[in-house]
Amino acid sequence: MEKLRVGVILGGMSSEREVSLNSGRNVFDNLDREAYDPRAIFMDDGGRLWAIPWQLISQNTTKDISERLEAEARRISYEGLRDEIDFAFISLHGKYGEDGCVQGLLELLGLPYTGPGVLASALGMDKHIQQAILRAAGIGVPASVLVREEQWRTERGATAKALADRFGFPLFTKPPREGSSIGVTLVRDAEALVRGVEEALRWDRAVLVEEYLRGKEFSSIILEEEGEPRALELTEITPQSDYFTYDDKYMPGRCRKFTPPRGIPADALEAIKREAVRAFVALGFRSYGRIDGFYLPDGRILITDPNSASGMAPSSFFFEQAACAGMLPAMVIGRLIENALVIHRQKNGPL
Ligand SMILES: Nc1ncnc2c1ncn2[C@@H]1O[C@H](COP(=O)(O)OP(=O)(O)OP(=O)(O)O)[C@@H](O)[C@H]1O
Ligand SMILES: [Mg+2]
Repeated sequence: MEKLRVGVILGGMSSEREVSLNSGRNVFDNLDREAYDPRAIFMDDGGRLWAIPWQLISQNTTKDISERLEAEARRISYEGLRDEIDFAFISLHGKYGEDGCVQGLLELLGLPYTGPGVLASALGMDKHIQQAILRAAGIGVPASVLVREEQWRTERGATAKALADRFGFPLFTKPPREGSSIGVTLVRDAEALVRGVEEALRWDRAVLVEEYLRGKEFSSIILEEEGEPRALELTEITPQSDYFTYDDKYMPGRCRKFTPPRGIPADALEAIKREAVRAFVALGFRSYGRIDGFYLPDGRILITDPNSASGMAPSSFFFEQAACAGMLPAMVIGRLIENALVIHRQKNGPL
């Protein structure tokens, strides 16, 4: 029997393309060769697709790969993707890759892919809209205000004052649609508020301003098992910085993560898992996802960051939590493919 040609799509157009490269090459390396025929598909920063030889994915940066594409890779058209692969393992992060854009393209091509469909992917990326949906489902989220760029440019003084009055300091500013803590600022005073808003506006046309949460931060990977979403063992995050920054996330040895958590009581752990599954379902996520949030001293559980995709580097939450369930990376990657094949067989219209 012919093996399923699994295209691992990596790189991409977003600020997280280096994170994607790290995830994607780890997925590529761990794909079970007995069951699948892995193909590396690189998306460059202009959204063009390339079939790249596996040797290229060991390059340090997407820039290194991009410089070698003309000589060593083969350009493929969007429609040509169908001739190259039978299945897309989306290892892209951030805009255009995690937010429904690539999912829409794959729907048009009739190719099954990992993770949820267009709408849930878009919801997973948009922190403002997802909060509205979670609130409506009775799930706790931080108090927040969305400030659009036009409002900030025309009424900056009044807006800044209203935000300071509403939340006090510190507070958080973030672009509604980014990941890896890019554009996120912990704001401690009025001057920093201006810098935080401007930083967020580099990445989007609006900024989400949130109350500052003091509590234990957790991350919960949800994995579907025969269509049932289940939370794996939770991870407690204790960042070295004031919050969980880009460097804390990706620099080796920077941040301590405890799976299972050390500082959260057992009954609360079960409640957090239930809440994470509820958030997963409310947003329409499929197959897997990562739900992040805070457990507050008064016992409340607030969901701050539901993600429809998750980093898949060796030290990621994803593989750390899967290991607690006795699953090797190759097993859990295989599960994502098998989940997706069933989900796509069952769909009626785009996922
Ligand atoms: N309201 C808040 N109160 C306290 N800390 C916060 C708050 N919002 C964000 N943080 C801190 O900032 C970090 C990054 O924020 P957030 O999770 O919203 O960003 P992200 O870019 O979507 O991250 P990810 O890479 O997990 O997708 C969090 O992990 C947390 O440590
Ligand atoms: Mg996120």
